[in-house]
Amino acid sequence: MKILVSAGPTRERIDPARFISNCSSGKMGYALAAAAVKSGHECVLVSGPTCMNPPKGVKLIRVESAEEMFCEIRSESSDAQIVIMAAAVADYRPKKASSSKIKKTSSRILLELVRNPDILSWLGKNKKNGQMIVGFAAESESLLDNASKKLRKKNADWIIANEIGREGRGFDSDTNEVTMLSSEGGKIRIPLGKKTDIAVKILKILLAPRLGTGNT
Ligand code: CTP
Repeated sequence: MKILVSAGPTRERIDPARFISNCSSGKMGYALAAAAVKSGHECVLVSGPTCMNPPKGVKLIRVESAEEMFCEIRSESSDAQIVIMAAAVADYRPKKASSSKIKKTSSRILLELVRNPDILSWLGKNKKNGQMIVGFAAESESLLDNASKKLRKKNADWIIANEIGREGRGFDSDTNEVTMLSSEGGKIRIPLGKKTDIAVKILKILLAPRLGTGNT
């Protein structure tokens, strides 16, 4: 099976010296890629800029911006059975990246941002036969409510609800706690643990035949 995983943040260029990004470390996505290979599958990892070493056996494709990530995911997803969007894709990018460094001439400047493509929504709309689409929901409030809205809105098969802004969970932490919501109504909570262990549990659930129903 080919499992496609995205990880890390994206960087949206302002000028040659600056960019907009977010706090994603890539740890969760890289752990998922490692777990995919360990479970005996082919894994392609499309990664934004991170300090992580690529897991052994993974085909790594490095990207910088959301548009670059979109381009790679679009082509790599055509023959992937499972796509996991663990990347923290920047929702907006500067309308125009300056080719030269912006100098501090005025006391105030305005940066106009435009929307980036929503890669998970595109995957949900263009799902191949038998393909499983998995997204994350990074939420600081109303975790399960917002996550189930994303599940429906983005036509995903699974959304992994991930609280952020709380000690030991989410961005840059070595640990995490998630709740997996399936489009078939399943709800599976994976309690606080190392991201590497959580990734193995997530993969097991995704690979189990039709485990998406019933609550645990
Ligand atoms: N995602 C994506 N493309 C984007 C933004 C997000 O593919 N431009 C994916 C993420 O990889 C994740 C899911 O969508 O799997 C949800 O991301 P999240 O940041 O939680 O939510 P958003 O869709 O960006 O919505 P909001 O920021 O309003 O919560």
